[in-house]
Amino acid sequence: MSTSDNAAHYAQLAATYDQHWSHSDAFVTWMTAGIVDALALRPHHQIIDVGCGTGLYSRRIADAVRPEKPVLCADPSAAMLGHLRATVGLRPVLASAEQLGGARPNSTLADVPLGSFDAVLVKEAIHHVAPSVRGSTIAGLGNLLTGSGRLLIIMLPTHIHYPLFGAALLRFEELQPDPVEIAEHVRRAGLSTSIEYHEFALTIPKDRYLAMVRGRYMSLLSTFDENAIEAGVREIDARHPEPMLSFPDRFAFVLGTRRTRAS
Ligand SMILES: C[S@@+](CC[C@H](N)C(=O)[O-])C[C@H]1O[C@@H](n2cnc3c(N)ncnc32)[C@H](O)[C@@H]1O
Repeated sequence: MSTSDNAAHYAQLAATYDQHWSHSDAFVTWMTAGIVDALALRPHHQIIDVGCGTGLYSRRIADAVRPEKPVLCADPSAAMLGHLRATVGLRPVLASAEQLGGARPNSTLADVPLGSFDAVLVKEAIHHVAPSVRGSTIAGLGNLLTGSGRLLIIMLPTHIHYPLFGAALLRFEELQPDPVEIAEHVRRAGLSTSIEYHEFALTIPKDRYLAMVRGRYMSLLSTFDENAIEAGVREIDARHPEPMLSFPDRFAFVLGTRRTRAS
């Protein structure tokens, strides 16, 4: 999707984004614990959540870690950022990963100095960075880290087991970057790198899931027109006569740790 298609997608999705996940507080709690653990977050850490969206996870991280300094919440979508609300402990930054990583110019990043973050989180946003600038963007995000800081990129693998319609699953596989390639960019940025996969067993009422598909809860679904979405909903409905849909939600956690530089 182009940058303007993305912006339009998230402007439309912003109002309902959190509702899509409100059915599974257990999932959000599980994911938050995984983030806190992988980034080894502590109250004195300076944290930035890049592609934070509505701040769903930034807010939960702040609740779990009680950071002394505000969590910076960066996103290029003003509509998504608008849902941060006036949450104490979260500070919005209207910027893309490319701008923060220096691959695109931006004049409002005085708040985001190089070498000052203990933790940089990019959750389900790296696929929005064009392949041509992914390497430089990731290197730039690495430059935001302190001498012992961590960069965590959370993303879906290239193959997912969601109960989506066939054409959507195929398109997902065409578009989704491979976590191994992302890990290679992190390694080239000079960080010690690892990939772990974490899986959560989701169960969602079918009606609710079909409403999420109609609401284009994944950006990939915005590439289908109304007729294709309705045909897709009928396909899912026919393939799954059961009232509850159960499927694994699997994520790659690509972790980069800055090796302490000799002084
Ligand atoms: C799937 S949402 C994930 C939001 C949040 N991280 C979460 O997990 O709930 C993707 C977010 O990435 C943002 N985004 C789109 N293009 C981006 C870019 N180039 N850099 C950073 N974020 C981007 C969108 O505006 C959207 O808020």
